[in-house]
Amino acid sequence: MSLAMIAATGLQKTYRDGVLRVDALRGVNLNLPAGALAVIYGPSGGGKSTLLHVLGGIDRVESGTLEVAGVALHTANESAITRFRREKTGFIFQFYNLLPSLNALDNVCLPLLAKGGPLREARWRAQEALEQVGLSERQKHHPAQLSGGEQQRVAIARALVVHPALVLADEPTGDLDSAATQEIIDLIVQLNHTLGITFIIATHNIEIRLIASHLFEMRDGRLSKL
Ligand SMILES: Nc1ncnc2c1ncn2[C@@H]1O[C@H](COP(=O)(O)OP(=O)(O)OP(=O)(O)O)[C@@H](O)[C@H]1O
Ligand SMILES: [Mg+2]
Repeated sequence: MSLAMIAATGLQKTYRDGVLRVDALRGVNLNLPAGALAVIYGPSGGGKSTLLHVLGGIDRVESGTLEVAGVALHTANESAITRFRREKTGFIFQFYNLLPSLNALDNVCLPLLAKGGPLREARWRAQEALEQVGLSERQKHHPAQLSGGEQQRVAIARALVVHPALVLADEPTGDLDSAATQEIIDLIVQLNHTLGITFIIATHNIEIRLIASHLFEMRDGRLSKL
């Protein structure tokens, strides 16, 4: 039996800047079971990043209902959303977003320290997460001493360290060559299978579409299932 990870209806989001208005989400409906590996593709400006931000509690919608990992985000207050974000989700970005002054281990510790956890436990769990992405040997390296693919694996470890229900990845291979892209794809598939983590990936990459359990196209603020 698969439980719902995401139940969304009629999501609307408009960016406003003075007289400028952009309707980035125009009534998005989405249902995903736990354990899905969902891929969203579509043209630039279609609303993929906006949707990921909304699903991850980084941004809010104006209307619609949204339940993610059992949390009703459309009615939750700010502190509940912050807790949701820290405990249930991990984010992976195109350009890794690692802190250059910290080594790999300390970058991976950060989400646990942000929650106020003890340093010893954070270190231990960060080591475990780096093992899961095959980077135990690189703990002491700083981002500048790592390849792009390795930096992305550190970022994946940082997403995994909180034991999230859901990982949102925004163009995770956009900055990588084809060999590193394939390594990241293989890693995502393996983590999805072995840990049962739900992934939602926004991408232009055609290889990533091939691994989707659920495939969507996002265009002009509308999501359609393929
Ligand atoms: N902070 C913002 N303020 C105003 N408009 C925004 C903002 N962020 C995004 N938009 C607009 O919302 C629409 C959707 O953007 P979004 O970044 O979600 O698209 P995308 O599908 O992720 O595109 P890409 O493939 O280029 O990453 C675009 O028209 C964009 O210009
Ligand atoms: Mg985007």
